[in-house]
Amino acid sequence: MSFKLPELPYAYDALAPYMSRETLEYHHDKHHKAYVDNGNKLLEGSGLEGKSLEEIVKGSHGKNAGLFNNAGQHYNHIHFWQWMKPNGGGDKIPGKLKAAIDSDLGGVEKMKTDFAQAGATQFGSGWCWIEVKGGKLAISKTPNGENPLVNGASPILGCDVWEHSYYIDYRNRRPDYLKAFMDHLVNWDHVEEMYLAATK
Ligand code: FE2
Repeated sequence: MSFKLPELPYAYDALAPYMSRETLEYHHDKHHKAYVDNGNKLLEGSGLEGKSLEEIVKGSHGKNAGLFNNAGQHYNHIHFWQWMKPNGGGDKIPGKLKAAIDSDLGGVEKMKTDFAQAGATQFGSGWCWIEVKGGKLAISKTPNGENPLVNGASPILGCDVWEHSYYIDYRNRRPDYLKAFMDHLVNWDHVEEMYLAATK
């Protein structure tokens, strides 16, 4: 399959003031689009044409760095837009996901602290995650365009900690961005959907 830039699932100004129109215009229309366009060029002749995006991410890891970086970022950003919504965040976490957070991650408050810590301590560009590995939830972080798929896990929530995701709105204050993401933006219903899909 060739890569295609998805529409944002909300208006460009829908996440303000926590994520501005300007950030979403640059992040979606410029950065994500570049991953799509470059990924499509690199997919040609790679031997992975016709595979699913997840298969392309896993199949290019460690073998075709250019394709992997763009395909990984395409996968990450498709989900990143879905992992946010207006008036999201907070503690309104659906029951099955909440039970798993309580049993595997030490409860909601500890999950929030550990997720923010993973994002704040990812040196340079990357992502922090809640993933499912071996049927259990775990917190992790990855550099650049990597994601939990390459470690045999399934991501169910990720936050982009590349500067392009927060510098316009938060300048260098990455921890403030991570707190706003968790308190006001996370679409917990979508996280639970991915949790249920990863554990069935
Ligand atoms: Fe990004």
